[in-house]
Amino acid sequence: MLKQRDVVSVDDIETDEMFAIFELAKKYENLLKSGKRISDFESKIMATFFYEPSTRTRLSFESAMHRLGGSVLSVPEPKSSSAAKGETLADTMRMASAYSDIIVIRHPLDGSARLASKFSSVPVINGGDGSGQHPTQTLLDLYTMWKEFGGFDKLTITVLGDLKYGRTTHSLIRMLSRFKANVNLVSPDTLKMPEHVISALPKNFKVNVTGDLNAVLPKTDVLYVTRIQKERFVDPNEYQGVIGAYSINLETTQEMKKGSIIMHPLPRIDEITPDVDETVNARYFQQAANGVPVRMALISKMLGVN
Ligand code: CP
Repeated sequence: MLKQRDVVSVDDIETDEMFAIFELAKKYENLLKSGKRISDFESKIMATFFYEPSTRTRLSFESAMHRLGGSVLSVPEPKSSSAAKGETLADTMRMASAYSDIIVIRHPLDGSARLASKFSSVPVINGGDGSGQHPTQTLLDLYTMWKEFGGFDKLTITVLGDLKYGRTTHSLIRMLSRFKANVNLVSPDTLKMPEHVISALPKNFKVNVTGDLNAVLPKTDVLYVTRIQKERFVDPNEYQGVIGAYSINLETTQEMKKGSIIMHPLPRIDEITPDVDETVNARYFQQAANGVPVRMALISKMLGVN
């Protein structure tokens, strides 16, 4: 059971726990649609620490906690807390766990959420650590696919974009490697999936690494597009070299097979043109909306109230 455990990596979630989260998320989705109020969590408090910008992760976690009937304490940027005076993450987490029942943290450094979890006495959720992982994004990504296709075996998922710095893609392929999914990794040469992510996958899980989207598009069920993570480039020339390297537009959708979908963790900049939003393939806004019931279900499991 997830009760009182940390969720820092997708490895912290067993496959049966993930499906239990999906089932509960579906119930919450229906409850939300019916307009019923939930008050089971009214004595519970979530603390959110966002040391990097966020719209979806912070707001959907906070919305999820409010919708469960709980309360939220929020540090929306480091300069509004004593981190700006030099307080360590360890001390911040010690204090936050005295004030709350569960903590969500986003931080620019890989490994920061794991460090936070070591000093917190309440469960910690990684809301994205540098180029490391974003496990709850993967939960809502897979929930979106599960609702659409009913499972992952035999599904062909093409992950496109900045696979070097894009933490959502690192978590995603790690979780997908538990299934018999076919995964294509398509990126500019300089933004390939890091070797340490690929070599950590199970040996029997093969990924197809290519630069040629057109070659894999006709067989793709899910085109998972990502933004170039401008903020993580050390060398501005490297960033200049990949601007506009790929763009999904109406022409792209015409090459896609019937029933296929386009996903994106968002924010989107220019990698999907706005006219794609109205196509039958677009799922990215629904995907982001799924963040609320999925995070409600996760919080519920972690706090052990459902
Ligand atoms: N997908 C995602 O993490 O979005 P935000 O950066 O807006 O939280």
